[in-house]
Order: sequence, then structure tokens, then C-alpha cells
Amino acid sequence: MKKDLLSVAELELADFDKIFKKARQLKKALKEGRVHASLKGKTLGMIFDKSSTRTRISFEVGMYQLGGIALFLNSRDTQIGRGEIIADSARMMSRYLNGIMIRTYAQASVEEFARYAEIPVINGLTDLLHPCQILSDLFTITEKKGSYKGLKIAYIGDGNNVANTWIEAAARLPLGLALACPEGYDPDCDIMDRSIKEAAEGIALYRDPFEAAENADVLYTDVWASMGQEAEHEERKKVFKKYQINENILKRAKKDAIVMHCLPAHRGEEITADVIEGPHSVVIDEAENRLHVQKAILEILL
Ligand code: CP
Ligand code: NVA
Repeated sequence: MKKDLLSVAELELADFDKIFKKARQLKKALKEGRVHASLKGKTLGMIFDKSSTRTRISFEVGMYQLGGIALFLNSRDTQIGRGEIIADSARMMSRYLNGIMIRTYAQASVEEFARYAEIPVINGLTDLLHPCQILSDLFTITEKKGSYKGLKIAYIGDGNNVANTWIEAAARLPLGLALACPEGYDPDCDIMDRSIKEAAEGIALYRDPFEAAENADVLYTDVWASMGQEAEHEERKKVFKKYQINENILKRAKKDAIVMHCLPAHRGEEITADVIEGPHSVVIDEAENRLHVQKAILEILL
């Protein structure tokens, strides 16, 4: 693997399997109560420009379980929030820390940070991508379905950071991806164009969510308004109305389909309460796996 984890597009097929294998070992060790302090004495800095529950807790607990510590750095309370430039922040922090996780707006900021940092930089979500999420989701799919190979993933909803990352994953892995997004809310077109050329099993974009869901092994959705789009929420609720994972959509998927959501979820918007609480939903296992997969990433990179 490279020094940093900025996107899944930069991973080789073998990197995915290496992460999943390690995550499986770390999960088993934790469940059996075995201490695995491979990062003893190491420190992860976690820079947050946006809110987080899962990412913050799983990285922080993950570092603790691996014998290291994590520092929560709300950028508002640091000099970054007062305009200290990335080049200085990244080079200086590299002298204190062993790795940095960043959640921010622009993908370019994470990339610039990685360019200047002497230590690994992990993308904890940008407006464009959410690589740690989709790596955990693929691991969850492997647990539930035995493998991600040959499966059909249907993503219904906004063409956001989570959708873009699924597209990048479909370009690297032997799985089929069908997306359904309303017009004007498509995924990033550069990522789409590039990935369609590279994908082994195909990436298709539909306007009709029922078509995308047809015969799917996995139904996936995410919020209609992401962090930073709060002002558009009411308008988006109207536009996205039919892009909801509900009982009718579920009927179009395979009988044993699993339903996934990166969370936080808005019941009654992108997913109904019945479905998220129903027997097909794996959202809590999915959230748990953020911990195991990120521990694997930390162990590999740090
Ligand atoms: N799924 C996810 O990244 O959750 P948080 O925003 O709570 O970190
Ligand atoms: N698309 C969502 C994901 C949250 C984990 C957002 O960016 O807010």
C-alpha cells in the first residue's frame, strides 16, 4: 500500500484483501479478549472540520485498543482554524505524530496535507470521498455474503461522497454497481467516466430506483443532504422523494438481500423505519466494522 489512504482508487486488489484479512484477525482477537498492542507508543492526530460520531469513536477506540493514543483536533480550536497553512501544519505535525486522519470539505486539502506530511494521512471523509466507510462496508458484505465477488450492489439516492467511493471501488473489484440518482444529483462525472472504463463487471446509472434495485444482493443508501448541504435539505426532500429504500424497493432485490446505510440515517427520508429496523438491515454490524477495518488500516499504515 502507499503511504496514505486518500481514496480507494489508489488501492490494488491485493490491498483490499490485505485490509480485510487483517480486520478479520483483529476482530477475532478482540472478541476473544486477546490484547494486540501493535501500535504501542504511537499517536494518531484526528483533524475534524465536520461533525462525526462513528469515525471519531472508531479511530479513537481503535488506537487505544492497538496500544496507542488518538488526539481529537477540532480544527476550530487549532491554529488551522485561524488560517495556519496546510504546508506548515502537515510538516510540523509530522514531528509529533505517527499518523493523521482528516475529515474536511475539499479532497484537495487532504491531498495537500498528504503531500507535505512525512507521516501517513488517512481520509476520514471529504465532500468527494469516504474511503474508510466503503472499505468497512465491503468487509461487512464479505462477512454476510462470504465474498463481494460477483455481487450486485444497488446504491439509491444522492450522488455524494459515499456514492463516488462505491464507484471507485467498483472500478477495482469484481462486483457490479447500479446507482439510481435524480437528475442534477449525479455522482462526480470524472470519477464516473474513469471508473466505467476500468470496471470489470459494470457500473450503471439509472433514474428509476426500481430498475437499479432489480435483483440486487445489497441495497445501499445515504442521507439526501450531506454535511455542508443543510440549507438545501427541504428542497432535496422533494427532489429525492422516490429515491427511498422501502418495502417496495426491497421486493425488487434478491430475497436474501442485505440493506446498508453508512449512518446517520433519516427514517422516513432515504430509508423507512420498517426497513432499517427489519430483518434485511445490517446497519449496526456495518457501523461496528468501522472499528475493525480502521484498526487494520492503522496497523498497515502506521
Ligand atoms: N458513517 C460515518 O462516517 O459516520 P460519522 O459521520 O458519525 O463519523
Ligand atoms: N454523505 C454523508 C455521509 C456521512 C457519514 C455526509 O457527507 O454527510
